[in-house]
Amino acid sequence: MRYLDVDATSRISTIGLGTWQFGAREWGYGEGYAGQAAGDIVRRAVELGVTLFDTAEIYGLGRSERILGEALGERRASVFLATKLFPALPLAPVVEQRAVASASRLGTRRLDLYQVHWPNPVVSDAVIMRGMGTLQRVGLVGEVGVSNYSLARWQAAEKALGGRVLSNQVRYSLVSRAPEQDLLPYAARAGRVVIAYSPLAQGLLSGRYDRSHRPANRVRAGNPLFLPENLDRASELIGVLREVADAHAATPAQVALAWVIRHPAVTAIPGASSVEQLESNVAAAEIDLSDDEYAALSAASDRFRPVAGAAAVPAMVRARLRR
Ligand SMILES: NC(=O)c1ccc[n+]([C@@H]2O[C@H](COP(=O)([O-])OP(=O)(O)OC[C@H]3O[C@@H](n4cnc5c(N)ncnc54)[C@H](OP(=O)(O)O)[C@@H]3O)[C@@H](O)[C@H]2O)c1
Repeated sequence: MRYLDVDATSRISTIGLGTWQFGAREWGYGEGYAGQAAGDIVRRAVELGVTLFDTAEIYGLGRSERILGEALGERRASVFLATKLFPALPLAPVVEQRAVASASRLGTRRLDLYQVHWPNPVVSDAVIMRGMGTLQRVGLVGEVGVSNYSLARWQAAEKALGGRVLSNQVRYSLVSRAPEQDLLPYAARAGRVVIAYSPLAQGLLSGRYDRSHRPANRVRAGNPLFLPENLDRASELIGVLREVADAHAATPAQVALAWVIRHPAVTAIPGASSVEQLESNVAAAEIDLSDDEYAALSAASDRFRPVAGAAAVPAMVRARLRR
């Protein structure tokens, strides 16, 4: 495993573990996964040097936090535990009470990183950060983070907090590159961290799926990237991933992760449906892509033009009816 070069209370691994899948019905992994596999994934991740574990109070309505806390048990002390506040009415007392509830479900006295899950369109960060500041002062929260924030709002949150907001968790992968415009340069310049979620584009970049083999669960049924048209359009990018993967005796998913974490301020938090996937994702931290490989992957990513936005709606409806 490799770790970010950032000044934090514990080391932050460049590959973390995302746990939305734990106990969340929309992923459809079932009770066997929630009751056994999820815990096995966590324990194996710790063994392999993963320190960053990401959850949220909204995942499985608290179940993900419970499963993660229980699986960590004694191992809690060696990890960097991150959860997220669902920011509905995030007045200071509410923020404080929600952090206590998350800590209790996680079985911990301290949240290493407490993130605001989305920017609230009505309540300003001045209000939210009042609660976060109190939580830091009493020691329940180590670092404050945000998620899905623009750069302007990230910086406004820092101003309101009167200190650094360590990280911004955003969608970042070979098919979602918006963070390159300003979030990554800011993180690199200011010693902040971008936590890349959906780094495998929810499994698309593994190359396992195509028009005749589409994943069946609610999360991906609602993701236009898995429309048959878009799976066709992604085949060139998957082809380049396969070529680079062959050169490293690796898989397309591993190369997709290696591409994401090549930036020094980025850590990726892939989810995993099995221990084998977790092991494979962890091993991606050791892959060094050459400049040419990185450029070839970035160029193939530039050429990928999925049907998106309003244009994807008729196709989404057709795809639903065909299921
Ligand atoms: N802050 C936010 O708003 C936000 C939003 C979304 C996610 N997140 C966080 O980010 C984490 C990861 O994002 P995500 O779950 O959306 O997408 P992801 O990590 O890109 O995709 C995860 C899925 O990809 C497949 N996969 C994983 N490893 C693989 C491997 N080695 N080979 C082949 N397939 C593999 C698995 O699905 P199958 O095996 O079923 O194909 C797995 O469930 C979440 O768990 C959550 O913690 C945060």
